[in-house]
Amino acid sequence: MVNPLRPAILAASSSPRMKRLLTGFPVTAQIVRRFVAGETREELLAVAAALSAGGRMVSVDFLGEYTTDREQARDTLDEYCALIRELAALERPMLPGTTAQPVEVSVKLSALGLTLPVDGPAVATENLHLLCAEAARCAVWVTVDAEDHTTTDATLATVRALRAEFPWLGAVLQAYLRRTEADCRAFAGAGSRIRLCKGAYREPHDVAFRRASEVTASYLRCLEILMRGSGYPMVASHDPEVLAAAERLVAGTGRASGDFEYQMLYGIRDGEQMRLARADNAVRVYVPYGSQWYGYLTRRLAERPANLTFFLRAVASNS
Ligand code: FDA
Repeated sequence: MVNPLRPAILAASSSPRMKRLLTGFPVTAQIVRRFVAGETREELLAVAAALSAGGRMVSVDFLGEYTTDREQARDTLDEYCALIRELAALERPMLPGTTAQPVEVSVKLSALGLTLPVDGPAVATENLHLLCAEAARCAVWVTVDAEDHTTTDATLATVRALRAEFPWLGAVLQAYLRRTEADCRAFAGAGSRIRLCKGAYREPHDVAFRRASEVTASYLRCLEILMRGSGYPMVASHDPEVLAAAERLVAGTGRASGDFEYQMLYGIRDGEQMRLARADNAVRVYVPYGSQWYGYLTRRLAERPANLTFFLRAVASNS
């Protein structure tokens, strides 16, 4: 089924007027708190420490995307480097049976300059290189998020180039893109860390599947390719159908619990995250923080009409 509200909500994610309206409601802050660890690094670190202490790994996202000036891209890099140093100082025990770094950061190349009007790809690559060098020094991993399809080629090319120096650098593939099965084949080799997600942007029909059933079917085909390959798949989904398929593929391919990981978003299916972790699976929680939460929040609302209803009801009763 296609969610009829999804295109409208995703369109709102790039509307400055909608942003002003939503951020003006005091109740918005309460809803943001469900999905975002806080606006400051201090708030983030408290959440990351609690998740680590409870046996879950983390991937931290400093919110911000589609940066339009170099200074801002540089500021984002500086924040990531400070974040990496503070994450490295956390107590972060390795999970038994896995060589995965328990602490990782996730970064969008558009936040590092990819979409700058001049030299975007070069600036983003240089900034990502500096970020990875700091991460390597601190034994923290990095995964590059996937954004809208116009950035896919540049993003994957950048990851491929930097993996020569930073072999642990991960990438995200979006199963809703028609190209992704082929990308999975290309990235299923030894040492490759691929986070497979469904995809959260508004994409045209010729590049992406739109029906939920088609997206899930594509996810399952892509997951099988990654699980049968020799890389390290990161199963980023909350969908029970996907999680059940992952479990079957793990059994069928003879992977051990340290050969792949489950990943979910902060604030979504927390009970399921804990259940998987208690069953000795490697589970990583994607934890965003920062003041630029608007785009992230609208994507979470678009994924689930129930979230939007909850949000609108809260706004109505508080305004
Ligand atoms: P689906 O949307 O079908 O949801 C299945 C079930 O999960 C729902 O029925 C509900 O129970 C629960 N659920 C899902 N979303 C929810 C929500 N917002 N609120 C409450 N419950 C919800 N996308 C992208 O384009 N680029 C990226 O780099 C990333 N990175 C990323 C990292 C990680 C770790 C995760 C888990 C996801 C991403 N995503 C992403 C987002 C991803 O593309 C996708 O939009 C969401 O994960 C929702 O898809 P599901 O596979 O969970 O299935």
